[in-house]
Amino acid sequence: MKILVTGGLGYIGSHVTTLLLNKGISVICLDNLENSSEVVLDGIKTITRRQPIFKNLDIRDKNLLRILFDEHIDIKGVIHFAAYKSVEESVRKPLQYYQNNVGGLLNLIEILTKEEIPLIFSSSCTVYGQSKKLPISESEPFQPPTSPYGFTKQVGEKIIEHSCTAYPNFSAILLRYFNPIGAHPTAKIGENPQGIPQNLVPFLTQTVIGKHPVLKIFGSDYNTPDGTCIRDYIHVMDLAQAHIDSLNFLISSKESIFETFNVGTGNGVSVLELIKTFEKVTGEKVPYEYCEARSGDTVSSFADVEKIEKKIGWKANYSLEEALKNAWEWEKNH
Ligand code: NAD
Ligand code: UD1
Repeated sequence: MKILVTGGLGYIGSHVTTLLLNKGISVICLDNLENSSEVVLDGIKTITRRQPIFKNLDIRDKNLLRILFDEHIDIKGVIHFAAYKSVEESVRKPLQYYQNNVGGLLNLIEILTKEEIPLIFSSSCTVYGQSKKLPISESEPFQPPTSPYGFTKQVGEKIIEHSCTAYPNFSAILLRYFNPIGAHPTAKIGENPQGIPQNLVPFLTQTVIGKHPVLKIFGSDYNTPDGTCIRDYIHVMDLAQAHIDSLNFLISSKESIFETFNVGTGNGVSVLELIKTFEKVTGEKVPYEYCEARSGDTVSSFADVEKIEKKIGWKANYSLEEALKNAWEWEKNH
């Protein structure tokens, strides 16, 4: 049995690949290296002492994708990470985002529905926007998308839902990630953003290591206890484990499945709390200053995680402290 991981050398995909290999599962890592590099394979090999089959392939190339499935008829599940993920870039390059995130998914799903191969899809809490209820449960409605990126996740979810309805033997799980952070505890793989990071934790670690003079906190007078925004930060290893548990659930089920799960800790943490926790666990000082709020930011977002725990028995194990410690070790190591 093989599992195909698209975007398998990216941030989340590489961590999932290590867990699959450690379980003795054969993995095909498909990646066009647009936002990753083959060096990640070395990290995966060092951690697991095994290696995935690597395919440098673009999911937008439908013919090559078909050939891959013809060559590997024992693919029993697909975990689909390959997509673009920058909110800001998606506003400047909407067509590329639709082509890759929606077009790529369509190419893949055409094959999966035909071959009846189950799918796990990377969605995001961005589909909820600023939810009216907190914590956010899976039944909360989508809010109007604030970026083309966010819209590609909403559309992707709908494409998969409609495919599950139309093809009764096709199964899928949508995982809505909250805020993935941290790195593998060995510090051999982690997040490697191109250019200036827009996400909080990579910008913070890069600032502390000296790549930026100061971390700007976007907004200080939000309606939260300390005035800064609240998020649900989930360790990438916990997130990776949610994929393994979802895959087991999909593969072991006798019936077709269509499920949506939040993947978060259930805890809301403010920007200021995160900075203070980082300082406490690393002993490093974070130079920061307040600046204007970032347009489009939601004030508070954290997950109701009851459903995934009840249905598949997954819950987060790592603490915020461990996630920040691992993020810092990775920053120093690569
Ligand atoms: P990433 O950019 O590190 O990984 C994506 C990988 O896919 C990269 O290695 C890239 O080279 C590859 N890729 C992109 N387009 C491709 C294509 N057309 N063909 C083949 N390979 C392609 O991103 P990530 O943080 O690991 O995110 C993975 C998925 O999770 C994405 O779909 C993203 O939207 C989603 N997600 C991420 C976050 C987050 O904060 N990281 C949050 C919510 C959802
Ligand atoms: C961003 C994306 C979202 C994506 C999520 C997880 C936006 C608008 N949204 O959300 O679509 O699903 O990442 O990858 O980009 N912050 C600072 N200073 C910084 C960076 C961030 O104060 O330099 C603050 C932000 O205002 C926010 C928090 O830190 O309150 C987290 O920011 P970020 O890591 O960008 O994640 P999200 O805003 O949740």
